[in-house]
Amino acid sequence: MSKGYHHFKGNKLNRSEFIQRKVVQLILNGKLTDKERESSKVFELKHSSGCTQVGRILAEKRRLNKEYAELICVLHDIYVIVKGRYKNHAHLGAPIAARILRSTNKFRLSEIKLITEAIFNHSDKHIYSKNPYVELAKDADTLDCFLYDNVEGYYTGNKPPKVAKEYFKRIIKLRKELGLRPVKRYNKLIKELEQKSREKK
Ligand SMILES: [Fe+2]
Ligand SMILES: [Fe+2]
Repeated sequence: MSKGYHHFKGNKLNRSEFIQRKVVQLILNGKLTDKERESSKVFELKHSSGCTQVGRILAEKRRLNKEYAELICVLHDIYVIVKGRYKNHAHLGAPIAARILRSTNKFRLSEIKLITEAIFNHSDKHIYSKNPYVELAKDADTLDCFLYDNVEGYYTGNKPPKVAKEYFKRIIKLRKELGLRPVKRYNKLIKELEQKSREKK
């Protein structure tokens, strides 16, 4: 079955695959139950894997380093995976990711810096930075999340209108970049959110 491909078994994994397997193991072996988590183990598995695949596609499209994209994506929500909470998770997750990468002795300091900088900034979807890996982290996260059904309400309901609006702007931009059909609903939601933030003032 696994002839020619390791299927994540054994010791033939490259350093990125090694980290990817480690993240899956961290999720599966995590002591916190779904009741104690703000998301679920299933979501963490799906989102970290989904994001990694989306990150690979974006890296190819943008001619970026695919391995760095994989590592950024698989580790971007590491704080949520380990602690089960979202508050400030990007900032709190960066040092955890650094520790995991360092512990393998397979990464240079400059690589750890590049990866953790993207993780640290990935929640700031409203900011467009010049660092392509920081943007890749935000975009892969947004794209993976928007591939699930009925996810819009999470943003309109949980985030301030000004912030929620930025997610919809990003997904519109991303769908365009990847040649996916435009979703009219998103434009409507942006207008509604703009209206809401005006009313708040
Ligand atoms: Fe996140
Ligand atoms: Fe995420």
